Amino acid sequence: MEQRQQDRPRVVLGVTGGIAAYKACELLRRLTESGHDARVVPTESALHFVGAATFAALSGKPVATDVWESVHEVPHVRIGQEADLVVVAPATADIVAKAAHGLADDLLTNTLLTARCPVIFAPAMHTEMWEHPATQENVATLRRRGSLVVEPAVGRLTGTDTGKGRFPDPERVFELCRRVLTRGSAEVPADLAGRHVVISAGGTREPLDPVRFLGNRSSGKQGYALARTAAARGARVTLVAANTALPDPAGVDVVPVETAAQLREAVVKAAGDADAVVMAAAVADFRPAVYAAGKIKKQGGAEPEPVALVQNPDILAELSTDRPRAGQIVVGFAAETEDALANGRTKLARKRCDLLVVNEVGEHRTFGAEDNEAVVLGADGSETPVPYGPKEVLSDTVWDLVALRFP
Ligand SMILES: Cc1cc2nc3c(=O)[nH]c(=O)nc-3n(C[C@H](O)[C@H](O)[C@H](O)COP(=O)(O)O)c2cc1C
Repeated sequence: MEQRQQDRPRVVLGVTGGIAAYKACELLRRLTESGHDARVVPTESALHFVGAATFAALSGKPVATDVWESVHEVPHVRIGQEADLVVVAPATADIVAKAAHGLADDLLTNTLLTARCPVIFAPAMHTEMWEHPATQENVATLRRRGSLVVEPAVGRLTGTDTGKGRFPDPERVFELCRRVLTRGSAEVPADLAGRHVVISAGGTREPLDPVRFLGNRSSGKQGYALARTAAARGARVTLVAANTALPDPAGVDVVPVETAAQLREAVVKAAGDADAVVMAAAVADFRPAVYAAGKIKKQGGAEPEPVALVQNPDILAELSTDRPRAGQIVVGFAAETEDALANGRTKLARKRCDLLVVNEVGEHRTFGAEDNEAVVLGADGSETPVPYGPKEVLSDTVWDLVALRFP
């Protein structure tokens, strides 16, 4: 199911007058590409750094800095009231001060006063400005009132200076926005602390000759989202990654593999002391019976030889049946093209896993997408639907259900 326009989370991106304003463009792009309804409210100063045309084109929405445009729509009240999240990135010392004192002299400050949704500030400024007692007191005031103020990073600042005050990686701010939107707060439960979880991700490749393979369309994004969310919840994470092209999640032990046989070996080895194993990878059911040591060549005009296939081991069933630790939780994934729930129930019983995440696949669905929709079936008969949304949401639901089943 495609996400409808009115279901998209509404994000107001406030941009203020610092050098890091250009990084707001990257954040905006990530927000819009992942299905958010994002609108930019820059300050006058921000437009010295990035033109209104850039924000308008990237967001597909009009851009205004004061309260006197489209007055009949009362934007100074509406934009804040209708928002699901306001994120000010970068946030100058000036906007932090104005927000702490409730000033309302432009569209962004009005929006901050009318918003009743979560508000994130990502400050960026010179170290002296950040450390000034006035700024520190303003930050403390905002935090006390419930706003989330991100600590600036340490690094190269404008000019040749280095120190605390750098705008954090836009990807980090984006992840924070997603987390706040999906879970209602930036707080992450540490309920997987002390646990070791093993996750497989990506799609296996079964070689036919040195240049060809049988593969599948799995991007690995769901498995990586599972790894990121598990690490954020305190778990030690082993991610067995089959042919992915994604950055390694921070703090996660990544084991690259290519074939189903290599994936099996890596997962079985890591599962030895694991509390949970989640098989999100798309593992080939079959592989070519014969591997040609040299590239298979055309035989003049003759028809090519058919490719004979043999069955690969069923890793999920093996993991579920031979559990190296009592109480280990095993989770499988099933991508179905029809009768998803009925087929999922049958698969869950056959594989003997504890949970099975069932999603229907088709064109533009699941493979390579940022979002997903699924039902998590439990061996105890439970059914947990997860509506269309970020893969992190499905991941967090999986970890909620796994944590409930730990002995
Ligand atoms: C080149 C340049 C870079 C600036 N960078 C920052 C900055 O990173 N952080 C900050 O708080 N102020 C910075 N300032 C100062 C702000 O632009 C100034 O305080 C302005 O009034 C902020 O307005 P605003 O908060 O309405 O956007 C910079 C100014 C200039 C000229």
